[in-house]
Amino acid sequence: MNKDPRPLVAGVCGHPIGHSKSPRLFRHWFGVLGVEGSYAPLLIAPDDFQTAVRGLMAAGYRGMNCTLPHKEAALAIADDVSDAAQAIGAANTLTFHADGTIHADNTDGFGFYENLKASAPDWSATDGPAVMIGAGGAARAGIHALLAAGAPEIRVTNRTRAKADALAAHFGDKVTVVDWAARNDAFDGAATIANSTSLGMSGQPPLEISLEHAPKEAVVTDMVYAPLETALLADARARGMRVVDGLGMLLHQARPGFHRWFGQDPVVTDALRDACLEG
Ligand code: ATR
Repeated sequence: MNKDPRPLVAGVCGHPIGHSKSPRLFRHWFGVLGVEGSYAPLLIAPDDFQTAVRGLMAAGYRGMNCTLPHKEAALAIADDVSDAAQAIGAANTLTFHADGTIHADNTDGFGFYENLKASAPDWSATDGPAVMIGAGGAARAGIHALLAAGAPEIRVTNRTRAKADALAAHFGDKVTVVDWAARNDAFDGAATIANSTSLGMSGQPPLEISLEHAPKEAVVTDMVYAPLETALLADARARGMRVVDGLGMLLHQARPGFHRWFGQDPVVTDALRDACLEG
């Protein structure tokens, strides 16, 4: 087999991109695994997406991660799309093949699920109903992963009811909708509770919910990771529930890209978490 002559180069595109932790994450893995690679933050305006992708491919890039606002465009530009990206309707990991074709995957659901498994080893999606707070792209990814892992039911609650209804229609009978006004009722008998909204993030409004009716055995996770311990997680912890913070989702979702572009399987460790939290 011919060795791929392209340099070990990839990146992450977004608009803005300066806040991205991914370059730090990849730098850490390069060091730990001894890979002489590079991974660049790429500031790409929405109108320039296609031109930029073709240019990066011409320059020998092996692929890139895509964040806001490029996840739909990333799906559209691909020649070949994974089942997850298709089901979620967005892509966050593009792999540029040497023959000029593009593969699109969405690893957000993988990251969400792997983070739960790693941080709450006794947890299983099959333990019981899940509650997904929010109905945006991150919710889609989480719902896809939970269903794939055997969750018996997913209750979606979202401020804009129509978006929750659309998710239920898309994913089928196992996804039900609980009105935002009645969101606290969704926790009855739940085994998994996830926040996929931006509520509770530094600078955003608080997430106004009560875990009073949630079983103590439930696992609570928050896709928000700034702050690391959100009010939701602090409340769950105080009630004796298992909690899983959102940083791990970001770290785990990067693993498949690293593997595809650089040929090694990176591991999520406490040292990686610390490296991503610095500065
Ligand atoms: P992402 O792709 O990260 O999921 P998104 O598609 O913009 O981002 O979704 C953001 C989610 O946060 C949505 O569920 C949104 O609710 P709406 O569908 O009603 O917009 C939710 N959200 C954001 N701000 C909110 C607020 N102030 N109150 C309630 N929900 C909010």
